Amino acid sequence: MRAGDFDLFADVVKKESGIHLTEDKAYLLESRLMSVARKHNLASLDTLADNLRQQKTAALVNDIVEAMTTNESSFFRDQRPFEQFRNFVLPRLIQSRRDKKLIRIWSAACSSGQEPYSLAMVLDEEKAKIPGWKIEIVATDISNEMVEKAKQGTYNQFEVQRGLPIQLLVKYFKQEGDRWTVKDELRRGISFKTFNLMDDASSLGVFDVIFCRNVLIYFDSETKGKVLENISRRLTEDGLLFLGGAETIIGVTDRFKSVQEQRGVFQVTCNGPPGSNVLLKQRAALTA
Ligand SMILES: C[S@@+](CC[C@H](N)C(=O)[O-])C[C@H]1O[C@@H](n2cnc3c(N)ncnc32)[C@H](O)[C@@H]1O
Repeated sequence: MRAGDFDLFADVVKKESGIHLTEDKAYLLESRLMSVARKHNLASLDTLADNLRQQKTAALVNDIVEAMTTNESSFFRDQRPFEQFRNFVLPRLIQSRRDKKLIRIWSAACSSGQEPYSLAMVLDEEKAKIPGWKIEIVATDISNEMVEKAKQGTYNQFEVQRGLPIQLLVKYFKQEGDRWTVKDELRRGISFKTFNLMDDASSLGVFDVIFCRNVLIYFDSETKGKVLENISRRLTEDGLLFLGGAETIIGVTDRFKSVQEQRGVFQVTCNGPPGSNVLLKQRAALTA
């Protein structure tokens, strides 16, 4: 790659998505951007960089950003968060939301959909405890391609073999050859949208639980802080945030604190900028 081109690509990716590419990722950039060059009928990365310098069209920028996202996911990834959701979070919500009978969950950075479908399966397995309740799952990702794949809910044999117990596979998926598609009953409760975590999320509403797992690792500290601040504004007063196993709030934000004995689970504090206590009260009123 020519001198200066790495910075050009890395700057665009950082500005548009928050994803921070360090020089040691140059090989990744090169291999992933070759397919973008081919898609735009450009002979090489040099021509791709020249085109980008001349004209930052939305289509080109979008394809570059999508190519640099890492979409690794699996059903019930790391298992523990889904057990915490079933055994710790859900009983709390059943108590605290018994009048409204509404639970809203956001899978922020849902990739190809395994995370929201895993949550939907847990909720369906527990449905006898929440008869007549309305459950809304909103699943978002910056990548259009991933959101489309998630919406479709079709997985290959390898994907369903990773983390998905066979009895849940048989119960919630229909088989077509070597492909498995999530049954409509499960998919119906989830709304999929393209959404950039750098943007204001107020249009998505307020949530009781947010899963924002394995995405902050791609951001620098400043961006992590900004994203966590945005997310804190989308949680109810007693709402809970799940982060990935390698992610932490320590030294990044004081808007969250750890929930005791629940690794990877965080709750909103009142340590925000002036006025954030008012915000918490407004949110409480909104969800009352
Ligand atoms: C490694 S996957 C994590 C998927 C899932 N949460 C899990 O833990 O298995 C990271 C996802 O974050 C998405 N992503 C990266 N930057 C984003 C941003 N600024 N806004 C929304 N999603 C983003 C990527 O497209 C990718 O699908």
